Amino acid sequence: MRKIPDDFKSKLHNLLTLQTLSYKEGNVADYIPALAQVPPELMGVVVATIDGKVFTAGDYDTQFSIQSISKIFGLVMAMNRVGDNLWKRVNMEPSGQPFNSIIQLEWEKGIPRNPVINAGAILVADVLASHYSASKLAFLSFMRSLANDENIYIDQEVNQSELIHGNRNAALAYLMKSFGNIEAEVPDVLTHYFAQCSVSMSCKQLAQSLLFLANKGIHPLSNKKICTPKDAHRVNAILSTSGMYDQSGEFAFSVGLPAKSGVGGGIVAVVPNFGVICAWSPPLNSFGNSVVGMNLIAGIAEELGLSIY
Ligand code: DON
Repeated sequence: MRKIPDDFKSKLHNLLTLQTLSYKEGNVADYIPALAQVPPELMGVVVATIDGKVFTAGDYDTQFSIQSISKIFGLVMAMNRVGDNLWKRVNMEPSGQPFNSIIQLEWEKGIPRNPVINAGAILVADVLASHYSASKLAFLSFMRSLANDENIYIDQEVNQSELIHGNRNAALAYLMKSFGNIEAEVPDVLTHYFAQCSVSMSCKQLAQSLLFLANKGIHPLSNKKICTPKDAHRVNAILSTSGMYDQSGEFAFSVGLPAKSGVGGGIVAVVPNFGVICAWSPPLNSFGNSVVGMNLIAGIAEELGLSIY
């Protein structure tokens, strides 16, 4: 296990202070109007380790919309539920297209490129909506048990906003349905998908929830088996190649960690056998990744020598 230097706490604060003005280089997502209201200058970061240490700076305890970070948790639930059958309905290749692209889905006959673009996550939402009688509640209770915190909730304003502005996601779902790759009714699938995107969590809750991916599927704080070692490996592999949208190649090239971002400005990065970093700052770059979040994770990875490559 990597050693954390004694002065890491102050180094983390320095890394955050260096970013104080960088948020101005990005733009807060406004295609979901409720997200546009979040103050752009907020920023926080957490490094949680599998041996129970937690290092924090800034607004690390403020809850924000996890958006596409939810795709990791949905994927783990679906893998647990249907096993390898999932991979008959969704691939594991980078898409090279924007996360909400439709065009590739038609060429590829309704089989999404991977489970962390919107089409793939909607497919996963179909698995959950079809296999749980109350999939939203099952998702929420999975999140609460992973974080060991009941104070995790679906933000109703964001959820409404997603529903009203979700036409492109509906188009993806109906296109997959037309190819026979969606089992449940599309409105039920979308209801689950929008609810999971609208979950609010803090950097600390997210980092601690995901520790099982750094620890071969076992949550180190509860000792519970969340998924198999093979599935932890597979999720990390997908995050390495596809988790940062169309910037995944650059992120692997410059930082070298499996990571997932969401348009709420959060980014989580998994460091196998070490821990999880979560950074949050709402303004996004042109790829949809948090400007400050990327800088923070890059700075921490360099400081601690965390690249997996
Ligand atoms: O589907 C959407 O538009 C959002 N609810 C999730 C967006 C997001 O974070 C981008 N994901 N890959």
